[in-house]
Amino acid sequence: MKRIIATTLLLGASLFAVDGYKVYQETCKACHVEMISVAETMKQMKTLKAPPMVEVSHQLKRTIIIKGAKADDEEIHRFATIAFIKNYLQSPSIDYFMCNPGAVDRFGVMPAQSHLSEEERQAVAEWIYDRYEDVEFK
Ligand code: HEC
Repeated sequence: MKRIIATTLLLGASLFAVDGYKVYQETCKACHVEMISVAETMKQMKTLKAPPMVEVSHQLKRTIIIKGAKADDEEIHRFATIAFIKNYLQSPSIDYFMCNPGAVDRFGVMPAQSHLSEEERQAVAEWIYDRYEDVEFK
């Protein structure tokens, strides 16, 4: 009986699991290019609507710094970065954006993505963090 319950729970979890990449494709891709070089970004600047996601990911990881005993803890850094992204999606603000200031001058502040559910925000924020692991923006 226990095993049946566990299996049902697992199946349930995978049935309802939100795919962060799918959220990106459906909601963010219209403005944020997934992967592009710095040189191409410069060339395409006139047609871009937002900073490329590869740049956003790197910029946030660079800007969010954990100090103290947990300074080298990747899990804490990941958690803090994802929490920031989730919050920013609901209430973007000129007062605490972390991307390149030039991007805000050029594109303005991002429109709130508050139509997303908590699960969708979590999944897409995790995707932004993990997608560009070991990928450079250069
Ligand atoms: C209508 C265009 C548009 C859409 C759609 C959009 N964004 Fe943005 N986004 C922007 C612009 C412009 C900026 C740069 C200005 C800023 O940071 O507010 C930005 C910045 C960001 C940042 C950096 C925040 C910071 O600290 O400055 C994140 C993270 C982000 N977007 C994630 C997302 C995700 C995830 C989605 C999809 C759920 C999404 N965006 C959809 C336009 C958009």
